[in-house]
Amino acid sequence: NTVTPLVQTLGQRLRDAIVAALPDAADVSEVDPLIRPSDRADYQANGVLPLAKRLGVPPRDLAAKVATLLENDDLIVSCEASGPGFLNITLADSAILGQLVARSGAERLGVGLHGTGKATVVDYSQPNIAKEMHVGHLRSTIIGDAVARILEFLGTKVIRQNHLGDWGTQFGMLIQHQLEDEEANGFRAASSGVESISRLNALYRAARARFDGDPEFADRSRRRVVELQAGDERTLAGWQEIVRESKVYFNEVYDRLDVLLTDDDAVGESFYNPFLSDVVTDMEQRGIAVRSDGALCVFFDDIRSPDDKPVPLIIQKSDGGFGYATTDLAAIRYRVGTLDADRVLYVVDSRQALHFRMVFEAARRAGYLTDGVEAVHVSFGSVLGKDGKPFKTRAGETVRLISLLDEAVTHAKATVQERDSGLDAEALDQLSREIGIGAVKYADLSTSRTRDYVFDIDRMVSLNGNTGVYLQYAHARIRSLLRRGEAQHSASAVLDTDVALEPAERALLIHLDELSSVLDTVVETYEPHRLCAYLYALAQAFTTFYEACPVLRAPNDTIRANRLAIAQATGDTLKLGLGLLGIAAPDRL
Ligand code: ARG
Repeated sequence: NTVTPLVQTLGQRLRDAIVAALPDAADVSEVDPLIRPSDRADYQANGVLPLAKRLGVPPRDLAAKVATLLENDDLIVSCEASGPGFLNITLADSAILGQLVARSGAERLGVGLHGTGKATVVDYSQPNIAKEMHVGHLRSTIIGDAVARILEFLGTKVIRQNHLGDWGTQFGMLIQHQLEDEEANGFRAASSGVESISRLNALYRAARARFDGDPEFADRSRRRVVELQAGDERTLAGWQEIVRESKVYFNEVYDRLDVLLTDDDAVGESFYNPFLSDVVTDMEQRGIAVRSDGALCVFFDDIRSPDDKPVPLIIQKSDGGFGYATTDLAAIRYRVGTLDADRVLYVVDSRQALHFRMVFEAARRAGYLTDGVEAVHVSFGSVLGKDGKPFKTRAGETVRLISLLDEAVTHAKATVQERDSGLDAEALDQLSREIGIGAVKYADLSTSRTRDYVFDIDRMVSLNGNTGVYLQYAHARIRSLLRRGEAQHSASAVLDTDVALEPAERALLIHLDELSSVLDTVVETYEPHRLCAYLYALAQAFTTFYEACPVLRAPNDTIRANRLAIAQATGDTLKLGLGLLGIAAPDRL
């Protein structure tokens, strides 16, 4: 496990230069020069003003002094004090090109590893056994996977946990019906995810109908629940069969979505059964939970219903049963105590915000969440239909996830075929999958996480606008340019940093250099849309560069080699960025 050296960004180097130039008299260890990319110059520093206030000196004087000291730096060609005490900074072309040289040679494009902390649990996807996955599970899966990939890339140990809904009283009727059906008709194994889920849907419907219409069956089902909880062998086998069959379906969805979840990450609610009674006893004995109307509850001063009654977190129902919240408390205890996590992320829709607020607070009181451990509800908005209402079929049913993904791939295929790329059938299928799935993922990830968005396949697979296909296309065009560049010239030219840069080159190079600071923000906020926005702006900066600066017909060999290197770095950055979002970047489109 080698630690790759980090290439400092221009912003970080500027920051160091400014801190070094500040008057020795000041205690400046805590100063942030607040460096931002700027339209007026390359960068702007806004941190001199608050520092001058702290030191009790006139801000303009301090800014002017720092500006004079900085101009001798080989990183900076001009530094001007402006306004009440801001600095406008223009960088040396050689320094900007120097970053390209450093990153082009480096593994990971020079993005450093943080490697801080012990481990981060990412709880995501979390579909429910014997049920269709819905678009909420789709969002959780896509967002959780991207967050996990990015954390891991930056050096955090990530533990993926798929908190499957695999326990509950509904299993009584499902197992009972399945056992009776097998006795009558024999056992058949499903052969695919699609077949699994249609069988499970049929099982659910049939069991439900009998449960509601046949009191004797309902009684047998209730006894089944008791037997399941008691660990009766035949009942458990029936339950396992249903879980296994559901996983065939989930895994097919994960496979199509190209996410990293495996069976090893599936740690469902049932896993925590053996720990529930201990959690409940512990919390009751320590007075954290109290009896109220027979149920064992945790109360919170600041959580009250609209009619001002305290809202409890119920950890044991009056009939003795445990619920969703108890399982989550046991899961926190396990994740911190056994998995040794110092951060737990829950990628779950925003309607569960209150649940997590209460669970986290209760876990703090119980000491399951200690001071050094962070718990975050990484919440997200809903997926809407074109009518602005929750996404449903015309008949008002939940949309089947697999058909939705199939539809995206079919649309993508049409887009590819229109361009008549001369691909054979197999390559066409592969490409359509990469584009169609990429389109769905990108549409989701590029929306600010907490907002709702409209599921519109036509827009998602469009070549225009801020879409996955647009970025994949930008990447493929660069690869094609590089292929032509290589064909024309042996790629042996050494990069020359002693060349004057065009404005479009400067802008693109400075943007390329920002990747690591964007990734830092993504892991601070758990907001992958910031990476999407960065990549979109990168593709646009490349287009501007490509229009203004001929690459293959550059004025001379040096400039041509430099521009090919800029194109290469852009292609590599797009590929890396899309990869971190879980989106393929094919070389040809
Ligand atoms: N299975 C739940 C649902 O479909 C989501 C579980 C979220 N994770 C958790 N640890 N509670 O709504």
